[in-house]
Amino acid sequence: MRSDIPRYPQHIAVIMDGNGRWAEQRGSIRSIGHRAGAKAVQIAIEFCLEQRIGSLTLFAFSSENWNRPQEEVSTLMKLFLRMLDTEIEELHRRGVRIRFIGQRSDFAAEIREKMIWAESLTVANTTLNLNIAGSYGGRWDIVNACRALLLSARNPEDITEESLGRHMALADQPDPDLLIRTGGDCRISNFLLWQMAYTEFWFTPTLWPDITRQELSQALADFSGRERRFGLTSEQILGEQA
Ligand code: FPP
Repeated sequence: MRSDIPRYPQHIAVIMDGNGRWAEQRGSIRSIGHRAGAKAVQIAIEFCLEQRIGSLTLFAFSSENWNRPQEEVSTLMKLFLRMLDTEIEELHRRGVRIRFIGQRSDFAAEIREKMIWAESLTVANTTLNLNIAGSYGGRWDIVNACRALLLSARNPEDITEESLGRHMALADQPDPDLLIRTGGDCRISNFLLWQMAYTEFWFTPTLWPDITRQELSQALADFSGRERRFGLTSEQILGEQA
């Protein structure tokens, strides 16, 4: 097997969809679904710690989510703050390094300050990279990287996949091997567009608050059976396996 193709994901990205429908099915308001979704986040983190996954990236709030009803946005911001207040120290104790990706200036100062605090508290941790995408969009990420690269590029030849890639979010971590999306929709929704060029996608109709470690294990089992070719032929991949 090609030694650079992991059979086990080093990095899992998750689109945690279905909170709203989960609540509606129970006759509750959407915010209740987000609270249940926050509990399911614990299951995903626990699972990645157990399975020794290197990085977990969660799509918590997209650039477009600001356009949701004010009450829902406000619940999500409160959940963010609560997570920062109540979970970070325990995650730190367990060796988790926390990072936030996205347009930080969109968040209230109180949240921004706590993001900085959480990142600096956990900066030396190595058990799991927990990346939380907030006010994040894949297109925003690409534009942001272009702007940053333009400050150092002197001519068009300086702009390469490698140089631009160094300015993308999560550039110090391997690209996601596996994307899990709950909630039944089969789309990427402006998540890590650049980083997911060769990511394997796994979709489930399960609503995010109902996710279990058994289902996450199923996603891993399915992933390990896939042949990742990265643009090569099957023969090339198998040839290197011999
Ligand atoms: C999508 O479900 C989910 C979100 C927009 C928010 C995700 C947030 C959480 C899981 C809780 C907080 C997480 C952290 C990391 C602090 P949806 O509302 O679009 O559901 P629907 O498709 O059923 O309407």
